[in-house]
Amino acid sequence: MHDPVDSSGFDEALERAARLVRASQRLAVLTGAGISAESGLATFRGAGGLWEGHRVEDVATPRAFEADPALVWRFYNLRRANLAKVLPNPGHHALVQIEQRFQDGFTLVTQNVDGLHQAAGSLNVLEIHGALRRVRCTGCGRVEDRGVEALSELPSCRHCGALLRPDVVWFEEMLPPGVWSQAERAVQRCQCLLVVGTSAVVYPAAGLIDQARRWGARVIEVNLAMTEATASVDVALHGPSGTILPDLIKRL
Ligand code: APR
Repeated sequence: MHDPVDSSGFDEALERAARLVRASQRLAVLTGAGISAESGLATFRGAGGLWEGHRVEDVATPRAFEADPALVWRFYNLRRANLAKVLPNPGHHALVQIEQRFQDGFTLVTQNVDGLHQAAGSLNVLEIHGALRRVRCTGCGRVEDRGVEALSELPSCRHCGALLRPDVVWFEEMLPPGVWSQAERAVQRCQCLLVVGTSAVVYPAAGLIDQARRWGARVIEVNLAMTEATASVDVALHGPSGTILPDLIKRL
């Protein structure tokens, strides 16, 4: 734990993590909702994970959208509006500094749809679950970046008039194949995978951790708590990513 009682153990783990990062030519990072928690965005599985009494899993599926698109859009419009109020935190900024150190040998794979990595200045970002700022037409398939503009409860395509949907990956849907294969390639080629703020329960994303291990990479986890991945990682750093990642950089 990242607390004073266990500070010597934590310090040693931090040093081991820094050594693994320093020894790598290629570094991949996998982030989840936890890295944005300190920016003020709620995680999915924390605090009951409910929105207006619905489980997130029940409003983020193709079936839910078919049954009640206005309900699903209310959920996403709220999340889009929240983006206007939040800023990247020191955890996001630390990853920008790490990328500058590795340059071409760095890939950031994120499950987040909030765009905060790019807002911080990260360049090589793979958004495997899509982006809240983008919409996709259910008719003509056009994808558009609408920023944080307020959309109606049933927004329609400017080109063909069909219903728009958020350009995010819902439960039961495939991940965008191009982006996904780039993510797989990055974890297969890296010497070290840094896993930050994910519960590691949603597949196929969580499977990137197993892939990295199978291809010989060392894995570092940064999380407030133990996760499904903790038992199989090389170094687990428990605490807030907004503190731990800047601390890690100081050791590089
Ligand atoms: N620092 C580090 N870790 C944190 C912090 C923090 N400040 N706050 C929370 N966490 C950790 C939690 O302990 C938890 O393990 O972040 C994790 C968040 O887990 P989830 O809410 O399950 O988010 P995530 O893993 O990104 O979910 C995966 O599921 O709902 C879908 O598509 C959605 O991309 C999402 C996917």
